[in-house]
Amino acid sequence: MIKKIFILTGAGISAESGIPTFRDAGGLWQRVDLNKVATPEGFQEDPDLVHEFYNKRRKELLKVKPNPAHYALAKLEREFPGEVVIVTQNVDDLHERAGCRNVIHMHGELLKVRCMFCGKVFRETGDVFTSTPCPSCKRKGSLRPHVVWFGEVPFFLDKILKELEECDLFVAIGTSGTVYPAAGFVELARKQGAKCVEINLKPAENAHLFHEHRYGPASKEVPKWVEEVLSTQSS
Ligand code: APR
Repeated sequence: MIKKIFILTGAGISAESGIPTFRDAGGLWQRVDLNKVATPEGFQEDPDLVHEFYNKRRKELLKVKPNPAHYALAKLEREFPGEVVIVTQNVDDLHERAGCRNVIHMHGELLKVRCMFCGKVFRETGDVFTSTPCPSCKRKGSLRPHVVWFGEVPFFLDKILKELEECDLFVAIGTSGTVYPAAGFVELARKQGAKCVEINLKPAENAHLFHEHRYGPASKEVPKWVEEVLSTQSS
């Protein structure tokens, strides 16, 4: 009987919703220089360019919707008799819009901004500029996307590592296994005895660390896997 499932999702779970991944053909990092838009140095250098990049991604996010993979995880969260922990590297809100209730965003969220002066975090679905005042302390030029850039520490790592220690099933969905610390989670889960399953379009860089592999589009493979887990748990 599985007591706790730890699910790590990456850009691949949102690909069929129309959100580009980062490292596939035509991916985001082939079109935009990540050093300019996804590092603290890049933001320091040209904050308006960075705000423009995130304003564009925010607009695109509001036009897309969850796909069957997101809905399947929400069903698992509702119907699984044990605990389901969803940790996502994605900054989109498609898990939440599909009905998931406790999603841990380790790389932050596109629909949130943070004031570097007073530290407050706000929901933001519109555009932000260096001229936009902080809604709380009213300071100008102090707002930044509430996302984790390269070289910054991901959020909620203590909680994530605790959940990893306690899970008996670890599932990675739609992630290339190239960015740490997320890419190292499978090793921690495996070391403490969890069964590790990879669901992806093709083998991730750390595929060799998984016990089971399911290759195909997430919109097909995730609902299939969820039905299997729910039927074995109820029998
Ligand atoms: N179904 C399932 N998997 C898919 C699909 C699909 N339809 N399309 C693509 N994939 C898989 C690819 O095979 C690849 O393994 O999704 C993965 C996407 O890999 P990346 O683009 O590297 O995305 P991700 O692993 O989430 O990147 C991790 O890197 O740039 C940073 O912060 C960013 O959170 C991101 C992190």
